[in-house]
Amino acid sequence: MRFGKKDILDIKSLEAHEISLILDTAQGMKEISERPVKKVPTLRGKTIVLFFQEPSTRTKLSFDTAAKRLSADSISLSKSSSSIVKGETLIDTAKNLEAMNPDVIVLRHSSSGAPHLIARRVSSSVINAGDGIHAHPSQALLDMMSIREKKGKIKGLNISIIGDIAHSRVARSDITGFSKMGASVSICAPPTMIPMGIENLGCRISPSIETCIEGADVIMMLRIQKERQGNILFPTEREYADLFGLNKARLGLAKKDVVIMHPGPMNRGVEISNDVADSENSIILEQVTNGVALRMALFYLVAGGSRHADSD
Ligand code: CP
Repeated sequence: MRFGKKDILDIKSLEAHEISLILDTAQGMKEISERPVKKVPTLRGKTIVLFFQEPSTRTKLSFDTAAKRLSADSISLSKSSSSIVKGETLIDTAKNLEAMNPDVIVLRHSSSGAPHLIARRVSSSVINAGDGIHAHPSQALLDMMSIREKKGKIKGLNISIIGDIAHSRVARSDITGFSKMGASVSICAPPTMIPMGIENLGCRISPSIETCIEGADVIMMLRIQKERQGNILFPTEREYADLFGLNKARLGLAKKDVVIMHPGPMNRGVEISNDVADSENSIILEQVTNGVALRMALFYLVAGGSRHADSD
């Protein structure tokens, strides 16, 4: 099947069959990371710029690892080391990057819509590595890959997402993707952390964490994003943990084989207890492993794979 997209900007703009193609491609890529020599020549001669204007551990390192495993040349730029600090605009920065002829620009930015803005102005492929509170498509895709790998499907599953929905680009991308792939999505958060109209993305709001968890096949816990909150939206972390944290007692309400997920970074003891984060139901580190394969698939599809040549 042919992948026709130049950019990966959000989940909304991907059709279900395109998501399936990405997940299938990623599953095929996973084995490369398990070889003694974890490298193939697929993207030799391609150049990938990683431009991260916000902190990142998992996303940046896994995009970088993915590029290297496919033999692409990856170059990193951060906000503090770029001429953005001297007043250069994002668009001028992107045009200057384009002048060096990279094949892909991966952008993380604090402003929602920043990757969309540059994608319209450069001929390189643009991959959104997280923009403000808007979208984190590669995270949602690796989450879908992890769920499909563990449960054999996404369609028909009950998926609960609990935490700071208001400030979470992961929540928005996950809700959109999970519902697009046929899952039933419930969310739960303090009322101050539920954005108006979130149901329109394809979820329902549960009145309590207990209702949200009951019968769940998958529980996705989210961090409180204090860095994006103007005012503190809950009284204390202890109270938040009591009312909205996932602990062993609450886990008993979900299905026995429930899968626990978290995009990271975790705040242990706040949204998730240690014994749940480290339990046998947890696939939090498998998400990270799958993140490399998923990002290899994205690079392959936009820069070297079936976007450029029909394969069937
Ligand atoms: N999940 C995620 O985006 O983590 P990082 O911020 O560490 O990249």
